[in-house]
Amino acid sequence: MGKKEHGFETKVIHGGYDSKDFLGSLTTPLFQTSTFTFDSAEQGENRFAGTEDGYVYSRLGNPTVRALEDRIAQLEGGEAGLAFGSGMAAVSAVLIGLTKANDHILCSRGVYGCTFGLLSMMEDKYNITTSFSTMNTEEEIRNLIRPETSCIYVETPINPTMELIDLEMVAKVAKDYDIPVIVDNTFATPYLQKPLEIGCDLVLHSATKYIGGHGDVVAGLLIGKQDIIQQLAMTTQKDIGGIISPFDAWLLLRGLKTLPVRMDRHCANAEKVVTRLKDHALVSSVYYPGDAQHEDYEIMKKQMKQGGGLISFEIKGGKEEAQAFLNHLSFIKKAVSLGDAESLIQHPATMTHSVVPEEIREKMGITNSLIRLSVGLEAWEDIWEDLYQALNQVTQSKTI
Ligand SMILES: Cc1ncc(COP(=O)(O)O)c(C=O)c1O
Repeated sequence: MGKKEHGFETKVIHGGYDSKDFLGSLTTPLFQTSTFTFDSAEQGENRFAGTEDGYVYSRLGNPTVRALEDRIAQLEGGEAGLAFGSGMAAVSAVLIGLTKANDHILCSRGVYGCTFGLLSMMEDKYNITTSFSTMNTEEEIRNLIRPETSCIYVETPINPTMELIDLEMVAKVAKDYDIPVIVDNTFATPYLQKPLEIGCDLVLHSATKYIGGHGDVVAGLLIGKQDIIQQLAMTTQKDIGGIISPFDAWLLLRGLKTLPVRMDRHCANAEKVVTRLKDHALVSSVYYPGDAQHEDYEIMKKQMKQGGGLISFEIKGGKEEAQAFLNHLSFIKKAVSLGDAESLIQHPATMTHSVVPEEIREKMGITNSLIRLSVGLEAWEDIWEDLYQALNQVTQSKTI
């Protein structure tokens, strides 16, 4: 029988690791070492020259980290992966690596607050300007591309508004101009969405979220073609140095094994909660890509397997009501981050996106009444019950 490619659920467990290479150890060993010894001075010379394979120093490569990089590359359908000490280390390595002073970046209308902060800093320091775009039509994208546009940066679903970008369309336009498309795939994970297979060039993750899945690691991942990943490994990763620790890589390898089962449950729980939230009198809008009434539902059907585990919604009133609602919750945790077993809830305008100036926040659709919920793995009835009682308490205390 010919060798058939393993399914996603098998790759999350076995990808990038063969126990035969490591004394039969079932789980990937943790190489908690900063450096690697050479048998001779010549061997050291050859390893630095790249004429002999082998590890040198953990900032340049480590076997536990390598297993993670190979596994995520397989899962995203890329040739190579790179691991970082945070999602932002991955974002900054790729954006700094692909641009030079006076360049231009085309970016989706909304992005994570610190990504926005980084783009602003790049403009202030290096005159690298950014145009934010809804990317709704090919024409809109073409009109914004300039001779100095060095990359297109897309978040989809967008944090926290849950708008989607049509990746096939963006990739097609970008090819005409030979501009690389970078996709932040944090919200979807490769289980729900594979941007590289759609024609995009680089995918990155805040692996802190669903990839880790247990709220105990801050990490980032970047995946793409061998040549560009190698180039970034030897420049912005090696020399800026935002690498992951071997232990955190080990935790991510462990977390990844359950990604598909966790994602199925996150999605199923989110669907139950969305239906009920939409019926509550205090809730004015619910944004969930898996909802047939979501404005980008057709895009979701085209490029995502399911709607994901994140829901945003607006409640009647403003900041005061949003904060009161959060304060009335019982076991749902008020915390930024997402993708953990625990349901986490936050107020983007005053938390994750507070660095974005108010007028730009408004343009991004982040109002003072917007709330972002990362639906956890608890019994969905308990999650809904907690939301319901908190919504009712706000309704009772206000005459909205
Ligand atoms: C979509 C998205 N991208 C990137 C990041 C940054 O990741 P990290 O916090 O791991 O640096 C985050 C963090 O919340 C995020 O939500």
